[in-house]
Amino acid sequence: MDLHDAVVVVTGASRGIGLATARRFLDAGATVAGLARSADDLDRIAETFGDAFTPVVCDVTDADATASAIDGVADDLGRLDVLVNNAGLGRFDAVDELAVDDWNVQLDTNLSGVFHCTRAAVPHMKAQGEDRGPDATAGFIVNVASIAGLVGNPRLSGYNATKYGLRGFSDAIMKELRPFGIKVSCLYPGSVDTDFGQGSGSGPNPNAMSPESIAETVHHVVAAPHGTLISEVVLRPMVGRK
Ligand SMILES: NC(=O)c1ccc[n+]([C@@H]2O[C@H](COP(=O)([O-])OP(=O)(O)OC[C@H]3O[C@@H](n4cnc5c(N)ncnc54)[C@H](OP(=O)(O)O)[C@@H]3O)[C@@H](O)[C@H]2O)c1
Repeated sequence: MDLHDAVVVVTGASRGIGLATARRFLDAGATVAGLARSADDLDRIAETFGDAFTPVVCDVTDADATASAIDGVADDLGRLDVLVNNAGLGRFDAVDELAVDDWNVQLDTNLSGVFHCTRAAVPHMKAQGEDRGPDATAGFIVNVASIAGLVGNPRLSGYNATKYGLRGFSDAIMKELRPFGIKVSCLYPGSVDTDFGQGSGSGPNPNAMSPESIAETVHHVVAAPHGTLISEVVLRPMVGRK
């Protein structure tokens, strides 16, 4: 797909991997709608990025608000080519001490949030597929899971559950949506240098990958040759135990 004409939705675009991904697609010439809850952060980013970036205040845990936001982007910008499901958070604690609210907010954000965005985006992509014909790509969905979707860790039970769940969701919709010309990819990054781990008590990982390296990989899977679907990518720091 020629990304110069593409409309890309990135969730969790206010910082970290989502912000770097928004920048990467803007650099490729796309129009980007960035979703997050923090209006001030999105406004500041919009000032830097200019007209090609549309800030969209949206809490992905709210199904109705998310549907309105995604429909609004597709209506206002005329199409919806790429959805990057990146918004997510982690609440780490011993399983017998993990607060029920912390369990729930991880499921609501990391799993239900992805479902809400996908459910809203797919009808637009299917309609594009009908317009573009059977040989064209109708859309891309890139899910940012985690290596925690492949490997369990002490104190990460809730987070692991959401990311293992996202792996199953991704594999199912990859097979379901491929006949419609919609490519689904799932990324499993190890440690990335963002604010994500703050409060986890584990401290920064000096070997963590940059958010830009994950953004580059998101762009890479979308830019894969026509007829090729990169369904899964595992990204690890060059130095580490896992
Ligand atoms: N950092 C890592 O080591 C690492 C490794 C593997 C995978 N990941 C995954 O990568 C993704 C991004 O993580 P990150 O490291 O970039 O974290 P981050 O810097 O904390 O950014 C998280 C983003 O998600 C947004 N967000 C959180 N809850 C939201 C909600 N309910 N609705 C809309 N947006 C929401 C935040 O924006 P607002 O607060 O403004 O809403 C923010 O933009 C997550 O899914 C994470 O699980 C991270």
